[in-house]
Amino acid sequence: MRVLSGIQPSGRLHIGNYFGAMRQHLKLQQDNECFYFIADYHALTSNPSPADLARYSLEVTMDYLALGLDIDKTVFWRQSDVPEVTELTWLLSCVTPMGLLQRCVSFKDKVAQGLSPNHGLFAYPVLQAADILIYDSNIVPVGADQKQHIEVTRDIAMRFNGSYGETFVVPEAYIIESVAVVPGLDGRKMSKSYGNTIEIFEPEESVRRKIMKIVTDSTPVEEPKDPERCNVFALLRLVASPDELAEWEIRYKNGGVGYGQAKKRLAELMIEFFRPFRQKRAELENDLGRVENVLAEGASRAKTVAGQTLARARKAVGFGARAMANE
Ligand code: ADP
Ligand code: TRP
Repeated sequence: MRVLSGIQPSGRLHIGNYFGAMRQHLKLQQDNECFYFIADYHALTSNPSPADLARYSLEVTMDYLALGLDIDKTVFWRQSDVPEVTELTWLLSCVTPMGLLQRCVSFKDKVAQGLSPNHGLFAYPVLQAADILIYDSNIVPVGADQKQHIEVTRDIAMRFNGSYGETFVVPEAYIIESVAVVPGLDGRKMSKSYGNTIEIFEPEESVRRKIMKIVTDSTPVEEPKDPERCNVFALLRLVASPDELAEWEIRYKNGGVGYGQAKKRLAELMIEFFRPFRQKRAELENDLGRVENVLAEGASRAKTVAGQTLARARKAVGFGARAMANE
């Protein structure tokens, strides 16, 4: 199966991204042909500074490589290095009803927040459809928030195939069942936009400091505590062994243990969990040329596939003298 997904380079990746998406992306490499890319055209819709866009594109690449992306198996590239996708976006735009995009929740959310959205944000799902269709993707692993965009992609693919003949593979969404939402330091969903994250590769000392600051309730040490309502416990779930987790559950319910103790253990476990990948991450940071090479190699492999699909679509709509001649 061909699996494809895009990751926006909108900041440094955090442990919510790891447990909610990256881990599953990396696992899918075992049995599938995976195509993953840095969605920098999409990130541009929120107008980042050029320096941030360039920097985060590299950082996300390094994070994936350090955590186990296998470039012998998986094609990994920067979306903007294969501009063919923007031409396909136009072809798809011309079969996409306005209403389909007006119904998209992610767009409506931005408008409701009072932002004055740009046209790129409105057209965002069509670019995403082009990403998916240009690589003949079968399966698209994404978080639940992206489900609607995959439905839009399927709709656009079927409309195009209906008007111009079978051109695109109609993909399926694979909704990544996250370990539930990973909470941030303040108890809300961990998210770059809330400034409540623990980055995967931030310095160990800083991970420790942040974990000690996680918001908890004020139940006194000796009293029983509800593990289900505790942010520290939710994070322990991700990194503690099943046996240790069961012990913590008993300690919470019996009382006599303070949140401070649980936080200290959580910090140790979290740091241990990512420690094996830190050295590789540091090596990459010191060899950005190698990172650029990986992206260039990925772009060249992606370009071959994209070029073929785009040629098929151009011919289908009637571009080029040969389209009619071949009828
Ligand atoms: P952010 O909210 O930090 O901007 P993104 O929206 O870029 O994160 O998320 C990228 C991927 O990581 C998505 O597939 C999303 O489902 C997953 N993800 C992000 N934050 C969390 C979280 N707190 N818990 C679980 N999964 C998350
Ligand atoms: N919109 C996705 C997100 O914000 C990123 C993305 C862009 C994507 N193109 C894609 C995901 C194609 C899957 C397939 O997470």
